[in-house]
Amino acid sequence: MKKYKWGILAPGKMSAKFTKALKTLDNAELHAVGSRDVERAALFARDYGFRNYYGSYEELAADPELEIVYIASPHSHHYEHTMLCLRNGKHVICEKAFALNAGEVAEMIDEAGKRKLFLMEALWPPFQPFYQKAKEILSSGILGRINYMNGYFSFIPPFNPEDRKFNLALGGGSLLDIGIYPVIDALTFLGVPSDIKASAIFGQSGSEESLSVIFSYDNRCMASIYSSFRTSAGIGSELYCENGNMTVARGRDMNQTVILTPHDREKEEFVFRPPAMGYHWEAAEVMKCLDEGRTESSIVPLSFSLDLITTLDRIRIAAGIEFPGSG
Ligand SMILES: NC(=O)c1ccc[n+]([C@@H]2O[C@H](COP(=O)([O-])OP(=O)(O)OC[C@H]3O[C@@H](n4cnc5c(N)ncnc54)[C@H](OP(=O)(O)O)[C@@H]3O)[C@@H](O)[C@H]2O)c1
Repeated sequence: MKKYKWGILAPGKMSAKFTKALKTLDNAELHAVGSRDVERAALFARDYGFRNYYGSYEELAADPELEIVYIASPHSHHYEHTMLCLRNGKHVICEKAFALNAGEVAEMIDEAGKRKLFLMEALWPPFQPFYQKAKEILSSGILGRINYMNGYFSFIPPFNPEDRKFNLALGGGSLLDIGIYPVIDALTFLGVPSDIKASAIFGQSGSEESLSVIFSYDNRCMASIYSSFRTSAGIGSELYCENGNMTVARGRDMNQTVILTPHDREKEEFVFRPPAMGYHWEAAEVMKCLDEGRTESSIVPLSFSLDLITTLDRIRIAAGIEFPGSG
């Protein structure tokens, strides 16, 4: 079994969760961590058992032994940090949203392709059992045609204008942080919409704090997408179909539920509780692809990431959301 030397770029909250998941995989070696602050890097390396640590992302990317980098910096910096790692010959898995706009994502894909390096957006849902169950139910045909989807993700975080959730310069706002999840649901279950309408409410820091979106499809299906830092609606999508309905939901604790309510049968409920919040499946996929000589995942193909960011761009423009440099 080949073991891969992993690096973590930006040791924040998400990197801590991803590292815990990485530690459960026998073929992953915790090689190095890079922070803008050497003391933060040293602390993270000590807490999680990394061999090396660096006080800059440039030093991390230049580590000659490092093979795969997990990037979890703010959205505004994903493009710069992904390009840094690719140009240093590293395989990359980068957190959502992959970048600020489709132009940046296209360049990242191009760079990885030219260098024959692995690249994947760290999208959580496609690897999870509840998603696979939902897709299996839909493709069984039991519910018939999907006519409407209601997808939502909202919670109330403490307001802090410096935090990446509220700071426009860091790609703040509900869209890229949490609205992206119901958008992923719509793209997965319904496809790319033909028309998008959207409206946003902006907060004190100028970032969008509530967003309502309507997707329309040529086959007369519609979807409502809602994301917000001003309400606590939870996380889920309801699918209303010809022959019944299905709710695909996840708790804040990441427990996963699929509730199936066919019009002519008893309700069925499926509950999944994956270990390590299921992040280990993303890391395992990177290494499986590399073992098989592949530079792209078929579970999260780069074409899906491009469709996703293009849809996010369309929503952003329709809702009047602008980041510095978002284009
Ligand atoms: N997949 C999921 O379920 C999930 C869940 C939560 C978040 N995420 C994603 O993970 C990424 C990170 O989120 P997080 O919650 O971990 O954020 P966070 O706790 O704020 O950490 C972000 C890290 O980025 C680094 N950084 C680099 N430039 C920065 C800047 N200009 N300002 C602030 N920090 C900067 C900082 O590390 P150093 O300064 O130490 O280098 C910081 O610790 C985001 O893309 C987010 O959408 C994904």
